Amino acid sequence: MAVDISRTQDVYKDAGQSVNFTTLLLNREDHDAELEVIQDMADRIQAIKRSVSIRANNSGLAIAFGFSRKAWDYLFPNAPVPKELEDFTGIKGDKQDVPAVPADLFLHVRSNDESVTYTVVDQIMGFLRPITSVVDETHGFHYEQGRAIIDFVDGTENPVGQEAVEWGVIGDEDPEFTNGSYAFAQKYTHDLDAWRALPTEMQESFIGRHKFSDIELDDDKKDPAAHTVVAQDNRDDEEHKIVRMNVPFAQPGQGVRGTYFIGYARYWDVTKTMLTNMFTQNDKLLDYSKPITGMLFFIPSLDTLDAIAEGEL
Ligand code: HEM
Repeated sequence: MAVDISRTQDVYKDAGQSVNFTTLLLNREDHDAELEVIQDMADRIQAIKRSVSIRANNSGLAIAFGFSRKAWDYLFPNAPVPKELEDFTGIKGDKQDVPAVPADLFLHVRSNDESVTYTVVDQIMGFLRPITSVVDETHGFHYEQGRAIIDFVDGTENPVGQEAVEWGVIGDEDPEFTNGSYAFAQKYTHDLDAWRALPTEMQESFIGRHKFSDIELDDDKKDPAAHTVVAQDNRDDEEHKIVRMNVPFAQPGQGVRGTYFIGYARYWDVTKTMLTNMFTQNDKLLDYSKPITGMLFFIPSLDTLDAIAEGEL
């Protein structure tokens, strides 16, 4: 079955202006009642999206909703499992490890209007609240000119258009789950005071791009452990890609400044390789960043959501 982008959830385009990332744990008290709510949700999310999009038709509303491996096994014990949906247990790094913070459900809502993002999350949570507890809820925002909170433009080398579909959406390799995607969600905080204290040239060598213009540095000007050098998956001499839609989050009053990393991928293995490279090759960005969550989720296609709604899984 060929990829049909009208049957995918919003796993690429756009990072959004106002973003809500929520990860949840199922209560695991009453399986059948919880499954019933999830089946109901699988149907309602698209209806909520259609309705809110009518009322706020230029809001750029985009939604992705997904399941971790543990949730999939609990909710749909007799269903086939998406090929790469592993139970993520973390990655051993040199200086820091990639943590795994257990979560069952993932909700990623973004739009260009905070009231729209709020309305959608509030409506969805109205159904999910009775059967879940919140692991993490992070409000991200579009920072100046689409920059990461470390002040460098973020997303430049992202695949776009058809290439984003090719790298972001599961294809024929897993026919039962075509049009789905693998989302890795990971929250980082930064030591922004230390980062900002660095001379701009040093920051640029650590990222591999010029700060103001976003032009790529010549290779000999990049630190060998620059983020854009290390956070790559170039196995078999081919550049493997994912679709990143990171946004900053902050609680400035408390000195919290961070990046919510979200990578959608056709192949989880690509994201995992990038992460492994970052954490085992001492990515310079990590000297100023601390990963505090991390979980892999499968984002079903609209057809799989329909099948869930119909109780067919
Ligand atoms: C590139 C920021 C985490 C993968 C970049 C760029 C920035 C950036 C500013 C350069 C512009 C661009 O091409 O987008 C950040 C921040 C992170 C973070 C602030 C949070 C700590 C990650 C993680 C991964 C990743 C966890 C992978 C799992 C990539 C890739 C590129 C990139 C593949 C493009 C490299 C290239 O081909 O030039 N990132 N990133 N990043 N980042 Fe990150």
